[in-house]
Amino acid sequence: MRIGVLTGGGDCAGLNAAIRAVVRMAGHELDRNVVGYKRGWNGVLDGDSITLDTEAMRGTLPRGGTMLGTSRSSRRLQSVGTAPLIAQLERDDVEALVTIGGDGTLITAGRLSEAGFPVVAVPKTIDNDVSGTDICIGFDTALGVATEAVDRLHTTAESHNRIMVLEVMGREAGHIAAGAGIAGGAAAILVPEAPFSLDEIAERLEARHHRSRNASIVVVAEGAIPDGSVEIPDTGTDEWGNRILDGMGQFVGEQLAERTGFDTRTTVLGYIQRGGPPSPADRLLGSRLGARAVEVLMEGQSGAMVGVHSVGIALKPLAEVAGRTRYLSQDQLEMLDLISTAPVLTSHSKSRRWF
Ligand code: F6P
Repeated sequence: MRIGVLTGGGDCAGLNAAIRAVVRMAGHELDRNVVGYKRGWNGVLDGDSITLDTEAMRGTLPRGGTMLGTSRSSRRLQSVGTAPLIAQLERDDVEALVTIGGDGTLITAGRLSEAGFPVVAVPKTIDNDVSGTDICIGFDTALGVATEAVDRLHTTAESHNRIMVLEVMGREAGHIAAGAGIAGGAAAILVPEAPFSLDEIAERLEARHHRSRNASIVVVAEGAIPDGSVEIPDTGTDEWGNRILDGMGQFVGEQLAERTGFDTRTTVLGYIQRGGPPSPADRLLGSRLGARAVEVLMEGQSGAMVGVHSVGIALKPLAEVAGRTRYLSQDQLEMLDLISTAPVLTSHSKSRRWF
């Protein structure tokens, strides 16, 4: 089986780890190189691809962005359908595709699968809002950047006795705002899922400042919206009818300054959240999901997304946990064996009972 791989939608950190894992698994298990399509679905439509083998992936693991390039190609795809995609994949001798992307990429992957082409999807987006997985590639790195920003704003806010508003990404869902706000100890966290009252936030900040807290951090997801009590500036809609997100952080900062009279500053974190080297967690996640996607195809399954589940909190009786060690699982050991250059599972360790 020859596999193709592409990255679609907005870039993020950890994409190269996923591509690398796909390539290493395909090389190791199928003894085949991989066709890497450039600029997302556009690369498939234009027949623009490169051959990827282990050598081609050298040095990519710690690098942010995507070595294949990416694009948002929904308009073009809508007008041409899946037939030209399948025709090009067949011309390239590609029998199965791994797509690494967010919702837009998943929609096209689903259409391709419905048309009978084997596809397995890998979820990525810093917004962490893909359904069917607890975590997406890119989120952990973005969360780290946003949390560091909150920490940095704290010290300058305290020095000047200011309200500091930080706008972070999060169009439909507030995972970055919630994560960085909680991790950084923000006084208020505004997310798209819960319309906020500026009056209530202002009251809360005033109360804080009267209790001699001399600074407050307010984290605002770009897609957060106030309740109906204030009119928000009309930023217009894009070609798909979605609200253009522009300046909610600034708006919140101005409104809070007006209501409280406190000295207020706004920072928009923007694309810094998407760029730069991936965190170790994103490298691991990309590696695990990319490797699993190839395994799934080899098992003859497709039309599905690989995701991570159960990162929730569980209660375990002390009698079950005390004095026991949690080893790497068999799956993890096998993946280590496949993804690293030197074999990890020797005949000795294969026969040893770890569990
Ligand atoms: O990748 C998701 C996201 O980061 C959103 O939070 C943001 O609104 C959007 O991408 C911006 O994307 P671009 O400007 O690259 O189209």
